[in-house]
Amino acid sequence: MPALPPPFAVDLRSDTVTHPTQAMRQAMAQAPLGDDGLEGDPTVRALEETAAALLGKPAGLFVVSGTMGNLLAVLAHARGPGEVLAGAGSHLLNAERAGAALAGQHYRGLPDPGGRLDPQALAEAIDPRPTGRCPTALIALENTHNAAGGSVLSAADMGAVHALARRHGVPLHTDGARLFNAAVALGVPAATLAAATDTLSICLSKGLSAPVGAVLLGPADFIARARALRRVLGGTLRQAGVIAAAGVVALQQMVERLADDHRRARALHAGLCALDPAWCDTRPPATNLLRVRVGADSAAAQHWEAALAAHGVGVRAAGAGWLRLVTHRHIDEAGVAQALTAFAAVREARMGR
Ligand SMILES: Cc1ncc(COP(=O)(O)O)c(C=O)c1O
Repeated sequence: MPALPPPFAVDLRSDTVTHPTQAMRQAMAQAPLGDDGLEGDPTVRALEETAAALLGKPAGLFVVSGTMGNLLAVLAHARGPGEVLAGAGSHLLNAERAGAALAGQHYRGLPDPGGRLDPQALAEAIDPRPTGRCPTALIALENTHNAAGGSVLSAADMGAVHALARRHGVPLHTDGARLFNAAVALGVPAATLAAATDTLSICLSKGLSAPVGAVLLGPADFIARARALRRVLGGTLRQAGVIAAAGVVALQQMVERLADDHRRARALHAGLCALDPAWCDTRPPATNLLRVRVGADSAAAQHWEAALAAHGVGVRAAGAGWLRLVTHRHIDEAGVAQALTAFAAVREARMGR
């Protein structure tokens, strides 16, 4: 079957557009298989064990997506109606907030400038009393933080929230869809960050390039509950070793190279700042996401998205005048240069109007 042409010559819309590597395809073809809903699939088990060992957690659960991992975390942590406290800009509170209805939880957004939960607001919002009006079921962090332009929380940042959560007997979950980006940017093992949260989810299909999947990690009893709940959601995947095999390769081979994506994001940012300093009221990106303000409103951002697409460059409009650009394995130096040329051309065309 002929491959479809890629939608953009330079696709900066997301790191989810990455395709599996040759090594992943080979591992997928050769993966030993079982039934994940019966005695277990050996390759899924290998992925869960590899992820748990890498992140220093007792147990792991393969899930189809980051969204399912976060929803299962809420479901498995909550022991009755209550409240999930998370950053107002978090993926959980925005892209995944319909999960609140399924989980029977109220999701409350707290101020999170730069992707950091405001400690004062958090301390005031926690209500650990089981008889409280809406007892706090869970606190959620996000590292790296998508909407804050891939910003990074250090182990100390996470540890401060973890300590507060523990003081109140409330569990802490971290949406670590891009936790490995944070670890590589900080130069620390991912386990150092994972130690500062009770549970976490990591994505395999973003910068790590696997085609599908995420892993939820935490204590064995929590993962056992999440495994039962995953079945309820229809997430028991039978011969899932076919896709889990790519996840094992992702964890073993694709983490260190994230530094290349970060370097190219910084190059892109520097090039954009040189083209128009007004675009760059943001600091250089810490990881592989960057936000550029090209106008005053959503219409301007949408215009830029369409105009860049006409030059073969995919970006996403991300609110009032902002564009979001994401570097990944398929963006090389030539891709960065091509994106900058397209930005220059669109800018010139707009100035000439
Ligand atoms: C921070 C964050 N969390 C969770 C998700 C959800 O991941 P998935 O698309 O695998 O459901 C995303 C997806 O972009 C994300 O950026």
